[in-house]
Amino acid sequence: MDKDTIIEVKNLKTFFYTNQRCNKAINGVSFSVKRGKTLCIVGESGCGKSVTASSIMGLLPKLSRIEEGEINYYSERHGKLRIDQLEQNGPTMRSIRGGEIAMIFQDPMTALNPVFTVGGQIGENLKYHAKITARKIRKKTVDLLSDMGIPAPEQRAKEFPHQFSGGMRQRAMIAMAMSCNPRVLIADEPTTALDVTIQAQIFELMETLKKDYGTAIMLITHDMGVVTELADDVAVMYMGNIVESGTVEDVLHRPAHPYTRALLSSIPVLGKGKQQELEPIKGSTPDPYDRPVGCQFQPRCDFATDKCGTAPVEESCGETHSVMCWYYREVMNHEGK
Ligand SMILES: Nc1ncnc2c1ncn2[C@@H]1O[C@H](COP(=O)(O)OP(=O)(O)OP(=O)(O)O)[C@@H](O)[C@H]1O
Ligand SMILES: [Mg+2]
Repeated sequence: MDKDTIIEVKNLKTFFYTNQRCNKAINGVSFSVKRGKTLCIVGESGCGKSVTASSIMGLLPKLSRIEEGEINYYSERHGKLRIDQLEQNGPTMRSIRGGEIAMIFQDPMTALNPVFTVGGQIGENLKYHAKITARKIRKKTVDLLSDMGIPAPEQRAKEFPHQFSGGMRQRAMIAMAMSCNPRVLIADEPTTALDVTIQAQIFELMETLKKDYGTAIMLITHDMGVVTELADDVAVMYMGNIVESGTVEDVLHRPAHPYTRALLSSIPVLGKGKQQELEPIKGSTPDPYDRPVGCQFQPRCDFATDKCGTAPVEESCGETHSVMCWYYREVMNHEGK
């Protein structure tokens, strides 16, 4: 662990229990988030990105629990904290959540309460974590909404979430998450409902936060364009595992996992022109209750052999680059894309 690490996740397993069945949604995930850096997490729907985020935030639904592993947070105020051992709604977790560690949720209504005004909610968060005067709170709330490109912010601050459009709700929630200048910002698909111009503004605000406060950002996204632009490091998730991780250079330019390669060939890459041959990823993600034996990507993989019936272990394939595939050497040397 180096001193730049702010969050360290070690062998995390988070399972869901429904109808006497167990979904191993996160099945042994390790990564770290570094101060002042952006880690992008990518992967198809259902692979465990949001559950990883909720595990860190201490906001897991009732049917789930952390089965194994550690989540360490290196707080300036509290020193090293085992987040996974804190009570989800206990005083320590509540003093961190929304202040030192903030989250932009995939669904804005997870964070906004329908019975309070938008401005009131942003103000409450500031009051709780930033401890500033009522006048400053009002001013800061309006400034934040205005930074997010919400027109007539003074008026809008007095309105309720249902009076906002979907994209405006998302922006209000982003304002709330950024309001206390968090040490760690977890952003789960923060800009999917937004116009590209607003999206660009929001990413710019995130960059400012990173520069001014050394905020570490964990950004969950489907958009490889966003990854290219913002990421320092990338982790690729598939069915509850991180199958490949490294710097953005490592992962995007020297992909070592067949899944990463497939993901990259399924999306247009900026700068490659109109002639790119896009190929959708074969097949679909398996039923989490009926998983393949061994490597989870095996049924969809062109490189798979009988050996893949045994789950591959994580191996280093470069100084900062690691991968979970028996055939990573072949993948890295493969011709073409
Ligand atoms: N509240 C819940 N109850 C039961 N199962 C859940 C719940 N939330 C997530 N899961 C399961 O956990 C697994 C991981 O889901 P998760 O929401 O983390 O996916 P994701 O990678 O964020 O996908 P998306 O890109 O669609 O947001 C899935 O199999 C999902 O069905
Ligand atoms: Mg999600």
